[in-house]
Amino acid sequence: MASTRPGRSCPRRYRYSPAVFARAADLKAQSLYVVGGLYGNRFALEAVLAMAQGEGATLVFNGDFNWFNVDAAAFEGVNDTVLRHAALRGNVETEIAGEDSGAGCGCAYPEWVGEAEVERSNEILTRLRGTASAYPELRQRLAVLPMHLVAEIAGLRIGILHGDAESLAGWQFSQEALGERPECAEALLAGSGVDVFACTHTCLPVMQEFDAPRGKALIVNNGAAGMPNFRDTRFGLATRIAGTPSTQALYGARLGAVVVEAVPVRYDYEAWLAEFDRVWPAGSPAALSYRKRIASGPVYGVEQAVRTGARTGAFSRAA
Ligand SMILES: [Fe+2]
Repeated sequence: MASTRPGRSCPRRYRYSPAVFARAADLKAQSLYVVGGLYGNRFALEAVLAMAQGEGATLVFNGDFNWFNVDAAAFEGVNDTVLRHAALRGNVETEIAGEDSGAGCGCAYPEWVGEAEVERSNEILTRLRGTASAYPELRQRLAVLPMHLVAEIAGLRIGILHGDAESLAGWQFSQEALGERPECAEALLAGSGVDVFACTHTCLPVMQEFDAPRGKALIVNNGAAGMPNFRDTRFGLATRIAGTPSTQALYGARLGAVVVEAVPVRYDYEAWLAEFDRVWPAGSPAALSYRKRIASGPVYGVEQAVRTGARTGAFSRAA
């Protein structure tokens, strides 16, 4: 039976059917950056804006662009900027846009995430909700953001979402679930009519290849754009989908005429760490849960994230 405890539950209003992706594309682009999990890092936001501008790419922010930005100016700045682009709401935006529903952070954390971490996430959300309460107009704009989007690049259909193909806060596209139960993701791809699912939410990146009715299919989770994703690194990660490869890609895969890549978001690390320490000092819930990762990355390697046929060559430059 599904849990109803704050931070563990997946509210009913978070759910949708994989069939919603079998629709005409909402946007067509030459190249696209999918930016998930910015987590209020305004320096990472500056970095992705520059990356996209440099090649005239379209930006889609697929949720959780808020999290550590509990300072009023940072809250306003991040949301003002992100909402000028295509954006989806993540569980964080959904929870701060609505009244307190008892879902806590809305993360729907699975059992492998410890109780103390879930409680700290709920505390961070409560603090962010307090900041957001002074911005009713921004909250209204967050509340009406969609939960999913279909993009098309050179005939390739891309389903963009926050969690997985059934829920805003689903974990079926986490690196853990994709490793343990790839058949679930394969079924979701088959039922959706897309070639690629680009997601985030679960905090660790993965790119995994599947056989699908339309040929090769891919699930790409960018982990976090606003936090390091691999051990001993200092950059975030975004998903780039385009007709031509990027010289910056860490790894990627080709589907027909299109490349899907993980590209580093090289933000001002020192400035971000200083801001984080000021807003979330030692002992605070965010410092306890995230300081180590923000400083030096999680215990996770590129070789664990790449689950495609293109492990060598142009698409597997070392971090
Ligand atoms: Fe999330």
